[in-house]
Amino acid sequence: MENSVSKLSTEEIAQELNRAFAEEVEAATRYLHLRSAVRGLDRVIVDRVLKDAFHETIEHAENIAQKIRSLGHVPKLDIRVNCPNEPLSGREALRQALIFEEEALECYQDLLKKVEGDVPLEEFVRSQIALEYEHVAQLKELLVE
Ligand SMILES: [Fe+2]
Repeated sequence: MENSVSKLSTEEIAQELNRAFAEEVEAATRYLHLRSAVRGLDRVIVDRVLKDAFHETIEHAENIAQKIRSLGHVPKLDIRVNCPNEPLSGREALRQALIFEEEALECYQDLLKKVEGDVPLEEFVRSQIALEYEHVAQLKELLVE
């Protein structure tokens, strides 16, 4: 089925959204692991941040899955996550989170260019960008020396 406004077919849009879905699920998995990798007093400091980010990321994944379903497709999930069994400082955990949050932001910015012209989808992607941008800004603020 062709999408009338966007340059992409709904099939292609669903594929792009599947990528974003995987990014979010991967990020949630990483947050889950980061929470268990931080030890000692640092845990008291960063656990809440990582826990909230985990829940927010799951929510983002749900939003994407809902969007894929609304296009008439079943979300496809293809993830590759490898989290080593090394203890982390709170700062290191936040630094790692910043890396994958920035990747997620880039993924949505890429997606925005591709869905140009499809206003509802553009708006959806823009709102995801705003959310990711907030995450990145929050992490950067916490990582200030
Ligand atoms: Fe997210």
